[in-house]
Amino acid sequence: MEESKGRVCVTGGTGFIGSWIIKNLLQDGYSVNTTVRSNPEQKRDISFLTNLPGASQNLQIFNADLSNPGSFSAAIEGCIGVFHVATPMDFELQEPEEVVTKRTIDGALGILKACLNNSNTVKRVIYTSSSSAVLYHNSSGKDYDSEEVVLNEDFWSDVNYLRASKVDGWSYSVSKTLTEKAVLEFGEQNGLDVVTLVPTFVLGPFICPKLPSSVLASLSLAFGDEGPFGWLLQAPMVHVDDVARAHIFLLEHPNPKGRYNCSSSLVTVETISQVVSSKYPECQLSMIDKLKQIEGTKLQDLSSKKLIDAGFVFEYGLEEMVDGAIRCCKEKGYM
Ligand SMILES: NC(=O)c1ccc[n+]([C@@H]2O[C@H](COP(=O)([O-])OP(=O)(O)OC[C@H]3O[C@@H](n4cnc5c(N)ncnc54)[C@H](OP(=O)(O)O)[C@@H]3O)[C@@H](O)[C@H]2O)c1
Repeated sequence: MEESKGRVCVTGGTGFIGSWIIKNLLQDGYSVNTTVRSNPEQKRDISFLTNLPGASQNLQIFNADLSNPGSFSAAIEGCIGVFHVATPMDFELQEPEEVVTKRTIDGALGILKACLNNSNTVKRVIYTSSSSAVLYHNSSGKDYDSEEVVLNEDFWSDVNYLRASKVDGWSYSVSKTLTEKAVLEFGEQNGLDVVTLVPTFVLGPFICPKLPSSVLASLSLAFGDEGPFGWLLQAPMVHVDDVARAHIFLLEHPNPKGRYNCSSSLVTVETISQVVSSKYPECQLSMIDKLKQIEGTKLQDLSSKKLIDAGFVFEYGLEEMVDGAIRCCKEKGYM
């Protein structure tokens, strides 16, 4: 058997993106430590991870929770790289924003401290940020107003605007913005190699049992339901496999720096509805009819030029995103 490329840690292995990164890492020949939240009352089924090809030899599962920032140390020990993917997803606002944001930042800094303590092995941390940390700003903001503006890595969401406007997903967006800033600052101040990947709405197939919130949000463009980000009329999207590959690309790149946007398609209600109805004629699409009555949100695209210039190649288009997502929704009984 081929020798391992080294051991890496992925936080949030039970999630949509975390589990797909683990699948790809195992395929690529890495050994993987992943963290999951313990759930003693209902023992959770993580066989979708332990049954992955290569998992029996090369996947180790650890319990850790962002509420206990020190709990990630054991999973990070001996790793050459850490992918910090886990984050609270509280779109229903069950907890106050400040509580969620504090947990997210403290948890991330706890992970970075553990990386610093293991700096003899840990060479780089890749933090999964989000376009939520980029897209939201005061609509009178000068730079964002123009349709032609290219949202590169210089743009950040305005936390004061998010807290005041309470747009859909605002609490999550605040926590993503402040956490990305905190991890980049920690890296600079402590000489730790920290880079961030900034994906837009992630769509595609999924191996986790839960219906991913971004699959729900993205397909809501076609099905006319209000998703976790409200009524979306236009949104930037990217395939889950491109996102997982971009994480690994940043680990393997000789010298990445700072943030990297990761987006491949600007999708409208019309384009996604066309793709769904041509491949799945049995699906009932009501969105186009509703369109005239709804004042929905149109989100801008992010420029992925920096990632592409660094050598990354996107492999998937909208058809594959929709096809993979609908196939998995049907297989798992969500449709
Ligand atoms: N999906 C997208 O469109 C998208 C776009 C841009 C960025 N992102 C980012 O990508 C990452 C993964 O998102 P996802 O879509 O894969 O979401 P997901 O499926 O909901 O996964 C979130 C993961 O975080 C874990 N988690 C939540 N709270 C935690 C806590 N207190 N301590 C430890 N782990 C905790 C969850 O564990 P449980 O299973 O125990 O809940 C789960 O494994 C997030 O950082 C998100 O901000 C996602």
